[in-house]
Amino acid sequence: MNELEAKNRIDFLTQQIQKHNYNYYILSQPIISDYDFDMLLKELEELEKNFPLLANQNSPTQKVGGEITKEFKQVIHKYPMLSLGNTYSEQDLMDFDERIRKTIGDAVEYVCELKFDGLAISITYQNGKLLRAVTRGDGVQGDDVTANVKTIQSIPHQLKQGNYPDLFEIRGEIFMHRKTFERLNAAYKKELENKGYDENEIKERLYKNPRNFASGTLKMQDSAEVAKRPLDCFLYFVYTDNAISDTHFNSLLAAEKWGFPVNKDFKKCSSIQEVMEFIHYYDKQRDKLTYDIDGVVIKVNSYAQQQELGFTAKNPRWAIAYKYKAQSALTLLEKITYQVGRTGAITPVANLTPVELAGTTVKRASLYNADEIERLNLHENDWVYIEKGGEIIPKVTGVELSKRSPNALPINYITECPECFTPLIRKDGEAIHYCPNEQNCKPQIIGKIQHFIGRKAMNIEGLGEETIAGLFNAGLIKNYADLYTLTYEQILGLKIFSFNDDKQSITQRTLQAKTAQNIINGINQSKEVPFARVLFALGIRMVGETVAKKLAVHFGSIDAIANATKEQIADIYEIGEKIAENVTLFFADAANKQICEVLKTQGLQMEIIEEKGIVRTNRLEGKSFLVSGVFSISRDELKKKIELNGGRNVSSISKSLNYLIAGDKMGPEKLKKATDLQIPIITEAEFMQWIN
Ligand code: IVH
Repeated sequence: MNELEAKNRIDFLTQQIQKHNYNYYILSQPIISDYDFDMLLKELEELEKNFPLLANQNSPTQKVGGEITKEFKQVIHKYPMLSLGNTYSEQDLMDFDERIRKTIGDAVEYVCELKFDGLAISITYQNGKLLRAVTRGDGVQGDDVTANVKTIQSIPHQLKQGNYPDLFEIRGEIFMHRKTFERLNAAYKKELENKGYDENEIKERLYKNPRNFASGTLKMQDSAEVAKRPLDCFLYFVYTDNAISDTHFNSLLAAEKWGFPVNKDFKKCSSIQEVMEFIHYYDKQRDKLTYDIDGVVIKVNSYAQQQELGFTAKNPRWAIAYKYKAQSALTLLEKITYQVGRTGAITPVANLTPVELAGTTVKRASLYNADEIERLNLHENDWVYIEKGGEIIPKVTGVELSKRSPNALPINYITECPECFTPLIRKDGEAIHYCPNEQNCKPQIIGKIQHFIGRKAMNIEGLGEETIAGLFNAGLIKNYADLYTLTYEQILGLKIFSFNDDKQSITQRTLQAKTAQNIINGINQSKEVPFARVLFALGIRMVGETVAKKLAVHFGSIDAIANATKEQIADIYEIGEKIAENVTLFFADAANKQICEVLKTQGLQMEIIEEKGIVRTNRLEGKSFLVSGVFSISRDELKKKIELNGGRNVSSISKSLNYLIAGDKMGPEKLKKATDLQIPIITEAEFMQWIN
């Protein structure tokens, strides 16, 4: 490589690594694997070593982490938070051992620990009390996240009796258990569905893995929200001016006695062979742990020897991280199928010859969109690598080119909807293809009706997703308005087919008298559902529960919304142009308008019906309130008044809160917090005056 080529490559790598650092540390949304990232960094390091004059001053090889998030108070670390040199190669570990023996001789002991896949944290204790918790940030200074860290059950606020130093820092890793991640991510998915996001947006917004979720949580401004998303922590290093013991191993034991969560899977090893055994053992065991690890950390045990070995510019010489490669499997791509969602979004799915991966059998993997297929340069019947990497659905990460048949054809992305053959569209700047045939494309129609009957929408009892498909297949309904003209006689005896869990076999059942009557009753009862929920049920793109409520309150009726201009809709607080565009597009479609007319004729609530005497205003629009203490009316009544006047109730104090309405006997902590954050505090009387 000549100098010019080297310079270009260095610039390219620098830019790429900076982008990935930003995705990882700031957005918490990495788009490449750790392994691929480490390979980029290693290549850059190598080039900088060979062409030292070309190295950029601000090269990412000189930094340990990302930038600092603005909102939290910044704290300079007393002891910089360095990262470790890492490797994927056993030979590098041998070399590490040899370097150490050269400096300090053969009397060396190592401590092996698991490398937890989370976020580094440094917690300071003074006289046994938790004083402060700071993230790594850029290694020199980080975010003060004390309030959030205090919500972590396993972290002591006050230490047990013990001979701990008056002042010390303890470092460790904050993470989320896999089960918690799955539970919370599933709930988050439901929340997004209810807010009306389409499948692809949901996929993009969902947290990719427990580390991602933990990172997103720790950065939240509202510690009450953090407390709802249980995190955990393992602590692995004590920093103090006066040493508490001679070895790292004994410090870990001491920290455990003081009441810290110290992981039990650590081991003293007296040779690098023993270290290797530890690594191999946990490579096999790691699926059985309740949390993710991405490798093993090896530290020289004696503090005196650590001191002798010292540091390079970036890392301690006395420790190294061995990283496991993400678990992957190689299998045959049998075919690609394309799913059509309720909004017409197309998702390509790789159908694979079943293969074992990290304890489960994988038959399908996501391919996201056309760009991804192009990036992978996928050909028909390719052998593909799939990885789990903590994500819910495995993904295709690469192709084994040596197994590709010479006449294999590249995958051509479909140009027509696989269900209704309408040419697909792709909006400028969007990665997703859509089928625009909203009214006549079967999965879109069925999907929309299924959304319409959902619990948070019309909540039609007795009707399920399969019954909807059955009614559609029998030609009894073509859209959700048709539900209201169904008769008992039409549906009695209808045959409903459903796939069994194995997705191969089918079960058939017949609608009996009682079920048929329940369905008809459920449909009739749904005519009482309030307008905001009807609006949500219509399934307008991006109009979820919250947006539907806002539109309903603001405009009052379906006709007013249908006649509103894009600008009028976008002007509503927190609505914005994209939503406004989707609303106007929906009502510009004659078929949608016609369906709304039928719903109106059938007696559904197409406008807000106020209880007698209730007045709505938008006086408090855009303002958030926290109600605390005892008032002359119940807290619920007060909250209702806030909503009726267009305001929003929140449950905890944060910087973004607009007003605290203080009643009698309000807790002193809340008062102090609101005062510290300079949030206006008003009385009940002041509030009443405002809204009247
Ligand atoms: S020791 C100077 N021990 O991995 C000692 N780190 O690049 C610094 N990590 O920044 C860390 N498990 O965030 C250590 N048992 C463990 C660890 C661990 C995970 C993280 C930590 C660190 C990174 C190493």
